[in-house]
Amino acid sequence: MNMTPKQIVDELDKYIIGQEKAKRAVAIALRNRYRRSSLSKELRDEITPKNIIMKGPTGVGKTEIARRLAKLVGAPFIKIEATKYTEVGYVGRDVESMVRDLVEVAVRIVKDEKTHEVEAKVKPEVDAKLTDAICDSRRARDMVVDKTVVHQDLLASKLENEQIELSVLDNAKPIMAIGGPEISIGNMFDGLLPQRRHKRKMTVARARELLTMEECDKIIDKDSVYAEAIRRAEEEGIIFIDEIDKIIGKAGGSNNNDVSREGVQRDILPIVEGSTVATKYGNVKTDFMLFIASGAFHISKIEDMIPELQGRFPIRVELDSLTKEDFKRILTEPKNSVTMQYSRLLEVDNIKLNFTDDALDEIAEMAAAENETSENIGARRLHTIMESLLEDISFNATGEHPMLDVKIDKLYVQNAFKETKKKFDLTKYIL
Ligand SMILES: Nc1ncnc2c1ncn2[C@@H]1O[C@H](COP(=O)(O)OP(=O)(O)OP(=O)(O)O)[C@@H](O)[C@H]1O
Ligand SMILES: [Mg+2]
Repeated sequence: MNMTPKQIVDELDKYIIGQEKAKRAVAIALRNRYRRSSLSKELRDEITPKNIIMKGPTGVGKTEIARRLAKLVGAPFIKIEATKYTEVGYVGRDVESMVRDLVEVAVRIVKDEKTHEVEAKVKPEVDAKLTDAICDSRRARDMVVDKTVVHQDLLASKLENEQIELSVLDNAKPIMAIGGPEISIGNMFDGLLPQRRHKRKMTVARARELLTMEECDKIIDKDSVYAEAIRRAEEEGIIFIDEIDKIIGKAGGSNNNDVSREGVQRDILPIVEGSTVATKYGNVKTDFMLFIASGAFHISKIEDMIPELQGRFPIRVELDSLTKEDFKRILTEPKNSVTMQYSRLLEVDNIKLNFTDDALDEIAEMAAAENETSENIGARRLHTIMESLLEDISFNATGEHPMLDVKIDKLYVQNAFKETKKKFDLTKYIL
């Protein structure tokens, strides 16, 4: 991960409109991980990450920034909802599970990398096994078999879709949860329990994937994978705590809910402050993990958090409310924009949508107005508007007609919302 802050922001810009401050803050935090990694060990141990808290109204891109960030960084990353730990019946509040989940992610990343490294090495072995399996399956169907020909055809990728029977490892390992960290019994007795195999039908292509994994597993040194995974979780891991405002009670509040929320904050505190968590791959230190918290904070304030926890989130960024201009851009600019999504979906049923510029203006205007008159749900409003705008077309498109061009212009939008618009105008007068 050595993207510059600017590159990170550019990448986020492809999906998220505005919110420059938040983008810059996460970009700097990420880059600082890289900067720290190039320092001497002594200095490195002194520098802990500056955790970030993002505050902003609902539907303005907080979670979206986290999601995009996750795809961007090759680092172990997980996102959890803080409310998970306050759920009724959630006894014992296993907040350490967030660290264990992060390590799982790290193990998967490292394992994938190592697999890629050794894939070429195991290919001859895999091809040989595949050839045998194809020959066996053909013989079972009373076919005459020439192993050399099969092998050649296999190498020429002619047999990828052929159905064969392959005996594969039973991978489902029993998992036992004894209050604390879950322990996979399969792992404890790895090598002790006889590995069970059973025959399954599949294509040659699928069989190749499975055999490759099996053969790679044999030569990859598990201990070094786990050690590297733990190192990465410790040094590069990012934990995104969403909905953190939901675990904050009213200042001085004393009802049961507030008490339990404060309890969750106290439980989370040691993890954010730095502590050691036992996982099935070994102990993991949380001191250098980066934590990004986010919440709408419209009922509670950041200052209502227990002070110790507040102190561990020195960087605070506020996300802005979205304006009509933002909405218009969100409709078309992001790589996964709403209008693009609907266009693609309807193209399947032979409808080609064309949005005129004044239609986009109208939709953005409506979104802004509705957010003002009813509840402000940010960019999510665009989804609800688009859904009802295209309801008629979505229902009637069948694909059983030649490609139809449908122009969505201002008039179309206005007509589609004639009824609702009246209702909205009325709500203005209802006190
Ligand atoms: N600035 C933005 N640019 C592009 N799309 C956005 C933006 N803000 C929100 N969206 C879109 O709106 C939807 C909701 O956004 P998101 O989940 O990020 O909201 P949030 O800020 O996390 O809100 P909440 O506080 O309710 O969790 C997503 O589909 C997202 O793509
Ligand atoms: Mg969110």
